Amino acid sequence: MKILQKLTGMIICILLCNNVFAQPKVEITLHPEQAQTTISKHIYGHFAEHLGSCIYGGLWVGENSPIPNTNGYRNDVLAALKELQIPNLRWPGGCFADEYHWMDGIGNPGKRPKMVNNNWGGTVEDNSFGTHEFLNLCELLGCEPYLSGNVGSGSVEEMAKWVEYITSEGDSPMANLRRQNGRQQAWKVKFFGVGNESWGCGGSMTPEYYSDLYRRYSTYCRDYDGNKLFKIASGASDYDYNWTEVLMKNVGQKMQGISLHYYTVKGWDGSKGSATRFSPDEYYWTLGKSLEIEEVIQKHIAIMDQYDKGKQIGLMVDEWGTWWDVEPGTNPGFLFQQNTLRDAMVAALSLNVFHKYADRIQMTNIAQVVNVLQSMILTKDDQMLLTPTYFVFKMYKVHQDALYIPLELSIPLVSASASQKEGKIHLSLVNADLEKEQNITIHLSDLKTNQVTGQILTAKTVNDHNTFEHPNEIKITDFKGAKINKSELSVKLPAKSIIVLEISEYLPN
Ligand code: AHR
Repeated sequence: MKILQKLTGMIICILLCNNVFAQPKVEITLHPEQAQTTISKHIYGHFAEHLGSCIYGGLWVGENSPIPNTNGYRNDVLAALKELQIPNLRWPGGCFADEYHWMDGIGNPGKRPKMVNNNWGGTVEDNSFGTHEFLNLCELLGCEPYLSGNVGSGSVEEMAKWVEYITSEGDSPMANLRRQNGRQQAWKVKFFGVGNESWGCGGSMTPEYYSDLYRRYSTYCRDYDGNKLFKIASGASDYDYNWTEVLMKNVGQKMQGISLHYYTVKGWDGSKGSATRFSPDEYYWTLGKSLEIEEVIQKHIAIMDQYDKGKQIGLMVDEWGTWWDVEPGTNPGFLFQQNTLRDAMVAALSLNVFHKYADRIQMTNIAQVVNVLQSMILTKDDQMLLTPTYFVFKMYKVHQDALYIPLELSIPLVSASASQKEGKIHLSLVNADLEKEQNITIHLSDLKTNQVTGQILTAKTVNDHNTFEHPNEIKITDFKGAKINKSELSVKLPAKSIIVLEISEYLPN
């Protein structure tokens, strides 16, 4: 039965994952001589929405909280995120963004108007975390803010004034209001989303109607005092290629980026499945679904290429990740889910795919950073745990702003990606097979090296996860299974494992 399940899963994967799992070879060849594209660090971006306990309790506890904090931000979460070198943070949504009125979130926190968070559990939002709190957080983390503006229920004037409030240095009304609220110097903000999911929670629009609105709203988002906005249009969901086509045709170079949302989810109605209790069959299905993103990306890119041959417009996958049933006993509107080695596999496989299309993909944002969907971090009161997905981002951060190295690979249930930076090559390898280890030979072309080190993320079972009672069940450990012989590397890749190798002291010819 077990073998049958595995075979079924593997067949699904073979069908869904194109060439990744197609041919039974056992070799990888790196081509550093062909490297020409940089993997933008923004591919490692994150997302924080006013949803469940992502902001309140997760990132922000307020300065009077007994939970150790710096100006209201949790110290433990800050430290963990700094360690990841997160390049950007998207805020305030998601669906929340198109109901958010930024002026409610400035000034004396005790006097800020409240609102109902209709998208996420109907909770009352007190706006105590607003523009200043978010932008100051980005400064503390050393990351770039990515703001999502309200097109669905907000006015052009409101959006225009938000940009002025944040970025104007002059004696302008909004800059003076900002100063009145305690911030003298303008912030620098580059990434600005004009709406979110405008085909759905962001206004249920047609692509034609949204294109016109995009042109109108974005016209008034000005570049103040040397700040240069990178405007991102609300793009397609998954397989909606028509949305991309219409926007490329009607908006074109008026946008610098167009988004894409792709979740690894069973469907939108009924149960999405447990985050922790799943069969091998469900595991393989999940990997197949997550790898399907490659075909989806290829098709959106093919459309973009027709209208933008010079690849000026970035594809921004600004929401992706797994979506399971919420943890039993938690509010269904809060999307609080656990995170196992299976989620780590999805993260690693997806990042390997994003690297491959780095000439078009300029940013991605996994959903979401704390306590929501495929999080890096889970918190409960004063406790915090790091998820297996966190560890993938930690191991993979070496690829940020590194040069992508094309490679040839055709090994069943293995995925690989390589990059080079500062005299080192990093190779990430994923063996998704639940039972079989893989002996791999990696040809390093003309590179000569005598030093390889590595880190591994694996677990006894793929269902393993960290809990508040046992926060260290899964963690990164050193990997000793790689051996170098001149320009060949042999790697014994354990079943269900993610490895990042560092190859140093190479001499390019
Ligand atoms: O990430 C959760 C939600 O998923 C976001 O608010 C929305 O944009 C998407 O549908």
